[in-house]
Amino acid sequence: MSALTLSSSSAATLRADAVVVGVAKGPDGPVVAPGGEPLDQAFGGSLAGVLETLGASGGEGEVTKLPAPDGVKADLVLAVGLGDAPEGDGPYDPEALRRAAGAAARALAGRKKAGFALPAGDEASLAAVCEGALLGAYSFTEYRGKEDKNAKGSKSAGKGKGGDGDRNAPLAEVTVLGAKARDKAHKAAAERAEVLAAEVNRARDLVNTPSNDLFPKSFAAAVQSAAKEHGLTVEVLDEKALAKGGYGGILGVGQGSANPPRLVRLSYTHSKAKKTLALVGKGITYDSGGISLKPAGHNETMKCDMSGAAAVFAAVVAAARLGLRVNVTGWLALAENMPSGTATRPGDVLTMYSGKTVEVLNTDAEGRLVLADALTRACEEKPDAVVDVATLTGAMMLALGNRTFGVMANDDAFRTAVHDSATEAGEPSWPMPLPGHLRKGMDSPIADIANMGERMGGGLVAGLFLKEFVAEGTTWAHLDIAGPAFNESGPFGYTPKGGTGCAVRTLVRLAERAAAGDVV
Ligand code: BES
Ligand code: MN
Ligand code: ZN
Repeated sequence: MSALTLSSSSAATLRADAVVVGVAKGPDGPVVAPGGEPLDQAFGGSLAGVLETLGASGGEGEVTKLPAPDGVKADLVLAVGLGDAPEGDGPYDPEALRRAAGAAARALAGRKKAGFALPAGDEASLAAVCEGALLGAYSFTEYRGKEDKNAKGSKSAGKGKGGDGDRNAPLAEVTVLGAKARDKAHKAAAERAEVLAAEVNRARDLVNTPSNDLFPKSFAAAVQSAAKEHGLTVEVLDEKALAKGGYGGILGVGQGSANPPRLVRLSYTHSKAKKTLALVGKGITYDSGGISLKPAGHNETMKCDMSGAAAVFAAVVAAARLGLRVNVTGWLALAENMPSGTATRPGDVLTMYSGKTVEVLNTDAEGRLVLADALTRACEEKPDAVVDVATLTGAMMLALGNRTFGVMANDDAFRTAVHDSATEAGEPSWPMPLPGHLRKGMDSPIADIANMGERMGGGLVAGLFLKEFVAEGTTWAHLDIAGPAFNESGPFGYTPKGGTGCAVRTLVRLAERAAAGDVV
């Protein structure tokens, strides 16, 4: 990840490759946002006019690059759009700052050092700029060729592997200007932003890692190594332990694959914690659909089906790194859903960890099966609340699109708390109902329940299925992140193409609220 420093230097005197300035949409054209005054002075007070001449309006995400004038130490001035200017002297919306900083950082890929002269005078703005820049600078380079074998010694020759390596390297150093670098609250805000960004980027890396390298066993090993680094307790149930424990859901989904399933328990505890939060993540490292095979066109991105588990993993590590006064236990239900001679057949009946039986009508509705076992197990420890996170249904994408996740719960106040936490974190979400009448669609003639119901409201049907495996009296919420977990179109704001790290910041915010006694 890019390095982060706070500096009280002026935007004009900072030695860097580039300096970023904010430009907002004013009533009469673009206006330079606070923090950019020294740059505007270097332009003789005409920066807004120069930008307007170049066609800039201050619209969200708009990037304009200018050669730096005399009196500015950096080579390049990058103006980034903030959208509508706030009324009067009001502060900028943190999410607008986060997105602008992200778009600017991405546009500076390949450069070494950039100063961010965006509005960052108060802690919330400062945190947003730090987070946005570190998240926007992300790029997944693990699988890029290091050397172009055909390049004959020239690193820049030829396209493809290795040829454009430097231009794609993330911006190495982010310096946020206008902050009080020695102020305790400012330092703390920047440190929190750094942890959040690092953990969101951890989740993105895992999601982007292809399924031939990330499978249940290698995922569990990654958790073990992070647990060691951050002093967390980890326990991994392998296929033998799962069989001994009666985890019929996880085993039933994983039995078709050469890569056997795992259930990982990762726990962070604080000696002064008053509450315990359990987080459960869907970790299907590849979802082929199983015997109910997905058609071509629907399986190319299915390495992303472990995004829930990645978010839970990253959120537990973040809670530990931030030293939150709350216990957080993560449960990762890891399996690879493959068709084979040993796979579960449509029509098979599984006996779940809870003892309930499930008729598997569609092996592509596998997420709810692994989650059901993990939810039942998580509830045994009597946490104050359980939250599961899953790329669960295509239906939720149809309902809410690609940027918003759905929030369902068995408790209205808790659903509101989760939704509010997401909003505070800058993650779009929306409350969804769990209408009881949809339950009868999952009635099975031979088992306690089927894993499929009515097609209409498929996201809610999946939620109702999960609800059956949450212990009576346990407060529970379900996040269906199928839409926003993986960005198949172009990057925007601080969101890259591919894995987005969706839900990490929401879970951390929820844990902070639980630590403060605000929820559950
Ligand atoms: N992993 C998919 C859901 C999904 C689809 C996530 C697209 C991300 C992008 C899930 O396992 C699935 O296949 N769900 C089925 C359920 C159906 C068979 C009841 C679906 O939504 O079609
Ligand atoms: Mn599926
Ligand atoms: Zn799936």
